[in-house]
Amino acid sequence: MKTLLKQIGILMFTFGFIGCATASGPAGTGTGENKLTDANIAAIVVGANQIDISAAKIALQKSSNSRVREFAQRMATDHQSVLDSAVQLVTRLGVTPKNNDLVHALSKQSAEHETKLKTLSGRAFDKAYIDHEVVYHEAVIEVVKNQLIPGAQNQELKDTLISVLPAFEAHLAHSKMVQAKV
Ligand SMILES: [Fe+2]
Repeated sequence: MKTLLKQIGILMFTFGFIGCATASGPAGTGTGENKLTDANIAAIVVGANQIDISAAKIALQKSSNSRVREFAQRMATDHQSVLDSAVQLVTRLGVTPKNNDLVHALSKQSAEHETKLKTLSGRAFDKAYIDHEVVYHEAVIEVVKNQLIPGAQNQELKDTLISVLPAFEAHLAHSKMVQAKV
């Protein structure tokens, strides 16, 4: 549990920090207003989806809990679909995803989480996987709502982000339902 709380702290700190760190454009427009570029947003969307697909694949390999497996299959399918549409859109728009500190932090945190998952089995695995999915979806929804949607400059990119939110909210609800029964 301590580890989880620490992870939330790291994620929230990172997300909050990015808002400021990227605000230092050439003109130094000041304030904490989000200055993520569409290229950064594209990289965050790609990275965030890949991370959840990757965790789902581990769950599908390791878990024998039917609720966990059903959830993981949904994550693998839905996030692959979001990922495919996002890649298609940014390709059409000519935006090349550009990693930033948030993407690096997410990747690092995800690698640590996966390393831990690989050492677990049975109920301990199921709990670690689903607990993290709850926290991860909460964090991702926060970032999409408060940073990516307001920050997107291209209207199609903004609309796509708005359109994926209900699915992410549904994933969060689903993860909490599974969490209560694991
Ligand atoms: Fe999800």
